[in-house]
Amino acid sequence: MVKRRKIYEGKAKILYEGPEPGTLIQYFKDDATAFNNEKRAVLDGKGVLNNRISEFVMTQLNAIGLPTHFLKRLNMREQLIREVEIIPLEVICRNVAAGSIAKRLGIEEGTPLPRSIIEFCYKKDELGDPLVSEEHITAFNWATHQEIDDIIAMTLRINDFLTGLFAGARIKLVDFKVEYGRLYEGDMVRTVLADEISPDSCRLWDITTGEKLDKDRFRRDLGGVTEAYAEVARRLGIIKEAGGAEILSFSQE
Ligand code: TMP
Ligand code: ASP
Repeated sequence: MVKRRKIYEGKAKILYEGPEPGTLIQYFKDDATAFNNEKRAVLDGKGVLNNRISEFVMTQLNAIGLPTHFLKRLNMREQLIREVEIIPLEVICRNVAAGSIAKRLGIEEGTPLPRSIIEFCYKKDELGDPLVSEEHITAFNWATHQEIDDIIAMTLRINDFLTGLFAGARIKLVDFKVEYGRLYEGDMVRTVLADEISPDSCRLWDITTGEKLDKDRFRRDLGGVTEAYAEVARRLGIIKEAGGAEILSFSQE
């Protein structure tokens, strides 16, 4: 047995050194946190489901020519990714008012927004990821004007694509959070989608009943968190049965 070098450990994932230079292994933990680590739990099987859902989404995005860090899934909890330099922004895209925008602007949750809205938060746990503007981003050199333009264009494209993908599974994409990285290729640097896209980072509501199928079940103590994630995976055709033996066998790995 050879011990792998841990590059970084976050709240829900660990990054290990990859098999080749320029690659990393992204490991999905079962840990769930909310409100900047104030609330914590271990949800059996969550990491397995997020690994599968994120693989599915990233594969489809790669296929439409949207560059991502994703290379391939390795096993139940791990995927091979390209090593990128993470741009320290959480990029949020919203279609329907929910969560922090509902609270901040006094809009009733569930109200459709006049158009899709993109927000930027500075990725800094100690500060609770504060909302920032493009002025802050360029003034503090977190990203260039060109990178911001690329990020906005890519995020809107992801939003259009995922809205359709989830609608086909009778799910409304309310909002989501993505992160981007810089991929260095010789003299060139390219902005690529990084991190994950999963029910941890999206708000997903049943299209008819409005039932929450995402991390708000954990944030708001609604219960049935992994069951909801499994339902998303089942509706997307990733797994056959929700909550059945398949999920239990996943969580053992
Ligand atoms: P918010 O309404 O709490 O600002 O969240 C907007 C979206 O971003 C929602 O889909 C959840 C996701 N999100 C994360 O992925 N990580 C975070 O740390 C936060 C606060 C939100
Ligand atoms: N991921 C964030 C945290 O751990 C918050 C969230 O998703 O609500 O605190």
